[in-house]
Amino acid sequence: MPLVGSELLVEARRAGVGVGAFNVIGIEHAEALVAGAQTAGRPVILQISENAAKFHRGLPPIGRATLEIARAATVPTVVHLDHATDETLIDQAIDLGFTSVMYDGATLDYAENVARTAAVVQRAHDAGVWVEAELGEVGGKDGAHAPGVKTDPREAAGFVAATGVDALAIAVGSSHAMTERTAALDLPRIAEIAAAVTVPLVLHGSSGVPDAAIAAGIAAGLTKINVSTHLNKVFSAALRDYLATNTAVVDPRKYLGAARDTLATEIARLIGVIDGR
Ligand code: G3H
Ligand code: ZN
Repeated sequence: MPLVGSELLVEARRAGVGVGAFNVIGIEHAEALVAGAQTAGRPVILQISENAAKFHRGLPPIGRATLEIARAATVPTVVHLDHATDETLIDQAIDLGFTSVMYDGATLDYAENVARTAAVVQRAHDAGVWVEAELGEVGGKDGAHAPGVKTDPREAAGFVAATGVDALAIAVGSSHAMTERTAALDLPRIAEIAAAVTVPLVLHGSSGVPDAAIAAGIAAGLTKINVSTHLNKVFSAALRDYLATNTAVVDPRKYLGAARDTLATEIARLIGVIDGR
């Protein structure tokens, strides 16, 4: 099936449901994400972060593999570049055929974030690619979980109008890389931002948010739900269990296959939470 772009989030926002956006680390992740989405019968966003591209010593190897896996999916699929601060990586993703990119200017001051994001939007839109940007500080990428600067609803409306972004990542209580699901979302703020801006809203750091709070956040106005650390926990636990009970196994297809299957099952479950139709 051909890849899709921004229309997926626009339709989901209109329907009041969420879309799961899950991070690809290796090819087995991409396979598991598509398998889980197919089991759930719902769309999925496969996202590759700037850090994951660096891990693979460049975007093309993991990017091309993910694009091929996504194109073979039987459900609508987006391939998205996540948390790019390097604008040349965005150009590379567009050339490879990604349908969506995130420019992460969250650590820049407001004026510079607007100027750089607007320039990225122009280039991406010329190529038919949609753009997500971030306003406020989700935090946690440095390993600390101190609450960042939450997104201001009025500033969010001004930012979307000034940049032309297609989706906006907002800081509303979550934090990246949490291994416990204890974060509390600021639901009134989500509702205020959703009323102030017309584009779909994105929750980063969703691993730390309990299922019920994710559902409440979607009801309040979130659409794209980014999950990574939780999936890595599930994948790693399955791999450890397999190796602990099969101590003589040396074929990576056995233990990576077990981890991939377990991850696919969790993706199908999580998509049920995110898109409760
Ligand atoms: O951009 C990716 C996400 O925000 C994932 O965050 O690892 O805390 O789930 P997480
Ligand atoms: Zn993130």
